[in-house]
Amino acid sequence: MKPKNPCIVLLSSVFIIFLPSLISSQTCQKTCGKIPIKYPFGTGPGCGDPRFQPYVTCSQQQLTFSTHTGCYTITSIDYNNQVIYISDPTMSTCSCTQPSKGFGLDWDAPFSFSDDTVFALLDCSTTSSPIYRAGGGNNSTFPMCDSQGASICSLLYSCEAISRLSLPISTCCVYTPVDLGPSFDMNLEKLQCTSYSALVGFNSQETNPEGWKYGIGLKYKFNFNNDYPELCASCEKSNGVCGYNNSPYKSFACNCPDGLNTTTDCFYGQSWSHGSRFLPWKTGTLLIVFFTFFILFAFM
Ligand SMILES: *[C@@H]1O[C@H](CO)[C@@H](O)[C@H](O)[C@H]1NC(C)=O
Ligand SMILES: *[C@@H]1O[C@H](CO)[C@@H](O)[C@H](O)[C@H]1NC(C)=O
Ligand SMILES: *[C@@H]1O[C@H](CO)[C@@H](O)[C@H](O)[C@H]1NC(C)=O
Repeated sequence: MKPKNPCIVLLSSVFIIFLPSLISSQTCQKTCGKIPIKYPFGTGPGCGDPRFQPYVTCSQQQLTFSTHTGCYTITSIDYNNQVIYISDPTMSTCSCTQPSKGFGLDWDAPFSFSDDTVFALLDCSTTSSPIYRAGGGNNSTFPMCDSQGASICSLLYSCEAISRLSLPISTCCVYTPVDLGPSFDMNLEKLQCTSYSALVGFNSQETNPEGWKYGIGLKYKFNFNNDYPELCASCEKSNGVCGYNNSPYKSFACNCPDGLNTTTDCFYGQSWSHGSRFLPWKTGTLLIVFFTFFILFAFM
């Protein structure tokens, strides 16, 4: 007896083979909105590195960075240079100025400002702001304004939105927070400035503040030596997502496409944290392939 159409048998076998990946129940997602998510970040509890999980979260396909001063949209992640870029809705740009309370990183957060981030404090009190008194004495809490930032200040103050306020240029203070370490907190109330702007690049338009790239860049490290964990690398190679067990030890877990978690990776023959009663899906797929071909040849 011949099957009416071997093609149908072939197609359905292909469908059966790929079914396990179609009904994937991977808890940890590989993207959040349009942003690819890779170690050390994760889309939820149990995903990524537990040190980063409280600060970077994915909710309704929106990746958010949280700190004590607020929640900020993550606009992009540069995985090669290990920098995340965020935007602060209270930040001023060339097209819009607005009051802000500032921006701060939590002292224990595994982030520090990226080298390319430049802050411009706007409309500061030249008589009472500590930034105009610091630098000379022993209190180096706040740096003096960067003399190289003067051109950034004058360009920013030439923007229509800012020029309308007709502020003297001396009320603008630019500095790069590189040396301040991760505990830096830009409290504008304390600094007696009403708003701020931050840039992460000039977009090759050094003299055109409308074209600048506004935002804040935050550097991160994988660990003290900044080594990419080997376990995670092999987990990702096997199509898994790196995560951790929600036990007190937060030990490494590899979240596999079928939703199971392993202590190593998602390749066949590894130890399964879920017990051995489940067949790894690759074995299951192989069995289905053999079975399908067996049926196919038996009918032909
Ligand atoms: C795998 O780990 C994730 C994240 O911790 C968890 O939400 C999920 O329930 C785990 N899956 C299994 C099958 O244990
Ligand atoms: C240093 O800061 C402290 C408090 O922040 C202040 O009382 C003191 O006067 C400052 N000293 C100098 C030299 O500015
Ligand atoms: C400032 O620093 C100098 C030495 O660096 C020290 O002798 C002096 O006591 C310090 N002054 C204050 C007010 O801390």
